[in-house]
Amino acid sequence: MPIEIQKDIILKGDCLEILKSFPDNSVDLVFADPPYNMQTEGELLRTDGSSFNGVTDKWDKFEDLHAYDDFSIKWLQECKRVLKKDGAIWVIGSFQNIFRLGYIMQDLGFWILNDVIWSKPNAVPNFGGTRFQNSHETLIWCSKSKNAKYHFNYKTMKHINGDKQMKSVWDIGICIGNERLKDSDGRKIHSTQKPEQLLYNVILSSTEKGDLVLDPFFGTGTTGVIAKRLGRHYIGIEREDAYIEAATKRLNSVQLDLDTDLIDNTYEAKPPRYSIKKLIDLGFLSVGQMLYSKDKKYSAEICPNGNVKVGDFEASIHKASAKFLNRSNNNGWDYFWCEYKGNFVDINSLRYLADKKGGLK
Ligand SMILES: C[S@@+](CC[C@H](N)C(=O)[O-])C[C@H]1O[C@@H](n2cnc3c(N)ncnc32)[C@H](O)[C@@H]1O
Repeated sequence: MPIEIQKDIILKGDCLEILKSFPDNSVDLVFADPPYNMQTEGELLRTDGSSFNGVTDKWDKFEDLHAYDDFSIKWLQECKRVLKKDGAIWVIGSFQNIFRLGYIMQDLGFWILNDVIWSKPNAVPNFGGTRFQNSHETLIWCSKSKNAKYHFNYKTMKHINGDKQMKSVWDIGICIGNERLKDSDGRKIHSTQKPEQLLYNVILSSTEKGDLVLDPFFGTGTTGVIAKRLGRHYIGIEREDAYIEAATKRLNSVQLDLDTDLIDNTYEAKPPRYSIKKLIDLGFLSVGQMLYSKDKKYSAEICPNGNVKVGDFEASIHKASAKFLNRSNNNGWDYFWCEYKGNFVDINSLRYLADKKGGLK
């Protein structure tokens, strides 16, 4: 009998210990924001001489790089073990640790899918003017293994990006304003609380509704908040009471988002399987009918075999639309429009109409 793990909880303790109690192949996604090992020494001063509250926490201290590597290998190994076969992992870090983590991840057999740059328009300046302003962090997205069938909601991400393919550089401000958790004296509760938008992109792109997301370095629970908003489950592991308390309070006030199309991955639904030939046979299109680009600048005539022709050139709707666009390939269903019952409609909608009517015109 597989052991059932409890969902939507925060487990207090060292993730190296706690992860050992998880069964193999039990989580869909890991998001890990581990200690950076910043190696900061002394007080950081702003240009006006005031002190800057950087990452100087005890949880970020390691004896040396070997101790950090040793720790990283252990938690990454455990995360790999608990990930499902087709699961994936996102790890975030800065220049101090991300190269070490990437190297270890490759050695452990994770398969890198992308490295994403979190570009911070409101990054902290380099106060001393001794280096460039460090204005980004890096996320490494990996599947459990090279052949894993990892999850990617390509169309959903395109949709939220104004119908353009989403790139691997994300402009997201650091966590400030109402989102930043503060104590009663107005001090930040956590030095490295991540912006919700970052976790939104991560979880929305690589999970489905109901999936289980594990965060072994939960901090103030940003991962749990977004998982809950998107109808996913979470398990957070965190050592510090103050962070657990802040995360719990935060999670208790979170509701499911209202955009059910995003939550339900509606944009990922495969279109009904109808070919042009099938639409001709069913009477939604006819041989000799003209298909047009949306602006009617280009047109092609439907052939009996479901291809289209322009003069002597005959091809599929995909190849014909690619030729009009001067590209090597294109999706013709998204390109062509036609007259249907007195209206100018995109041919894609005829597939849905045919499907809805069970094939009857
Ligand atoms: C970079 S912060 C994560 C911040 C979090 N993503 C957020 O948005 O609030 C790393 C967290 O890991 C916790 N931590 C460090 N080592 C740990 C360990 N071995 N087990 C569990 N938690 C640990 C620290 O207390 C810290 O809160």
